[in-house]
Amino acid sequence: MNDESNFISTQLLQKVYPATKRGQEDLTVFDKVNFNIRKGEFTTCIGHSGCGKSTILNILAGLAEPTSGSVMMDGKSVSGPSLDKAVVFQNHSLLPWKTAIENVAFAVKSRHPEWSLLQIRKQCVKYLEMVGLNDSYNRKPSELSGGMRQRVGIARAFAIESKLLLMDEPFGALDALTRGIIQEELIKIWEQTQQTVFMITHDVDEAIFLSDRIFLMTNGPYARVAEAVVVDLPRPRDRSQIVHHPDYYKIRNHLVDFLVSRSHELSGSSNGAEERQEESGTVDGELLLPPDVNPALA
Ligand SMILES: Nc1ncnc2c1ncn2[C@@H]1O[C@H](COP(=O)(O)OP(=O)(O)OP(=O)(O)O)[C@@H](O)[C@H]1O
Ligand SMILES: [Mg+2]
Repeated sequence: MNDESNFISTQLLQKVYPATKRGQEDLTVFDKVNFNIRKGEFTTCIGHSGCGKSTILNILAGLAEPTSGSVMMDGKSVSGPSLDKAVVFQNHSLLPWKTAIENVAFAVKSRHPEWSLLQIRKQCVKYLEMVGLNDSYNRKPSELSGGMRQRVGIARAFAIESKLLLMDEPFGALDALTRGIIQEELIKIWEQTQQTVFMITHDVDEAIFLSDRIFLMTNGPYARVAEAVVVDLPRPRDRSQIVHHPDYYKIRNHLVDFLVSRSHELSGSSNGAEERQEESGTVDGELLLPPDVNPALA
């Protein structure tokens, strides 16, 4: 399908790692992962370590293959990386022999081969400054701190202004102040460029602040996306005001409850998980919050 409600659509994604030793069982990390993302939607994904979030992001990016199932983007099957998908990796992946600005320029040039050197430089500087790297353009990754390297990776992904922005815990290595500033820049860029975003985070407040919807994954093995929580808080969102919205803590408590207990209760073998999901009212792999918790349904 190629309508705006199905800009990204995953069908029955499954990832199995075969056993490497005799007597060991194959590892089915996740199974029957189904979700759709609307064009221009900001989604985040939360789940415990090891449930397969990065693997799903790599599959969306075309950098990894599912064992079975498929991903469609804009009506076409995703079969490899492309410049309409920008990725911020969980661990930065900069070219070590290039400076910060050269790393960003490399991506911008690939995206816009027709641009002049001046245009490329302007685009790089715009995004490097946006992430607060005003004085460090000419340093190589080995001369930057972990958080600075991560910010170069973020600037590189933002600078190519792709249709789809995939981010794997992009702000994990940043201090709280920088994290807040870059989150706000991200929202501005997202609004300007109307990109579609899929971002992994462990931070429930970050997820609520940024998202239109939050995908909640059960624990592995046989992990799956058990719920898609709609965050219908008005935009623009102000970090200090949003917490006073009457729905904020309803959503937050629901996310925390999921992470603390339900992600485990809903997990298990393929069949068991399926039965439990049906009991809790899953429709096409997405379970929406009851009306009093989910403002979109109230
Ligand atoms: N090449 C591999 N061979 C075998 N198992 C693997 C391989 N790569 C990943 N895994 C396993 O797949 C599972 C999912 O890994 P993944 O990195 O996607 O998890 P994650 O949800 O992103 O975790 P985290 O929150 O810690 O980043 C883990 O159990 C991991 O050990
Ligand atoms: Mg990960």
